Amino acid sequence: MAGRHMLAVLCITLGTILHATVEGSIQTDVEKVRTEVKQVRTEVKQVQAVVKQVQEAQKLFAKGLTDLKGELNQLKTKYERGKVAFSGALSEGNHNSADQARLFYKRIFTNVGNAYNSSTGDFTAPVKGVYFFTFMTFGYNNQNSGIILTRNGVLAVSSYDFQTISDQADTTGNSVILQLEAGEKISLQLWGGASAYDSANMLNTFNGFLLYPL
Ligand SMILES: *[C@@H]1O[C@H](CO)[C@@H](O)[C@H](O)[C@H]1NC(C)=O
Repeated sequence: MAGRHMLAVLCITLGTILHATVEGSIQTDVEKVRTEVKQVRTEVKQVQAVVKQVQEAQKLFAKGLTDLKGELNQLKTKYERGKVAFSGALSEGNHNSADQARLFYKRIFTNVGNAYNSSTGDFTAPVKGVYFFTFMTFGYNNQNSGIILTRNGVLAVSSYDFQTISDQADTTGNSVILQLEAGEKISLQLWGGASAYDSANMLNTFNGFLLYPL
């Protein structure tokens, strides 16, 4: 009986010790896991904050990119429309103000941007900008010579050479830089009583180009 009793006591004691050991180790594990979960939670929060920052930066970047694309397209259009250069000469023969004061430069060397229309004689500014114009005239023999560069029909600059008795040739010229709005018209016309003569030698030229758009 005594032996059995002792065995039972021993078993119970062992069981208690075992139980306590297992419980203790489980508790330690639970504590560890809790600490790790806490750490992971903190890290997740940090990562979430970083992701938010990245998303905001991405939004700003996307907006910046869209803005840049828009500006680039505007610049492209401006650049393409800014290619404006005209150069032409009068047709051969005598041009007299009594017949036709307005001059039409029909022999065209260059007309990039089609600003000049030789049917109307108008150089029409395709874009707002600063334009440069220059012209030379030749009057044959003892004639009055000279022309007026008009801006929307009003004199901007002109040139003149008075008639003289013994004169063989009358050459005049002038230049101007004008700030024009899109649609403004520049044309050339003879002074009253003046004439211009041209030949195969291209003596009377009118040139205009866009220095830069505004
Ligand atoms: C020149 O002007 C005339 C008259 O307005 C017009 O019929 C013609 O189409 C114009 N030419 C060009 C090349 O724009």
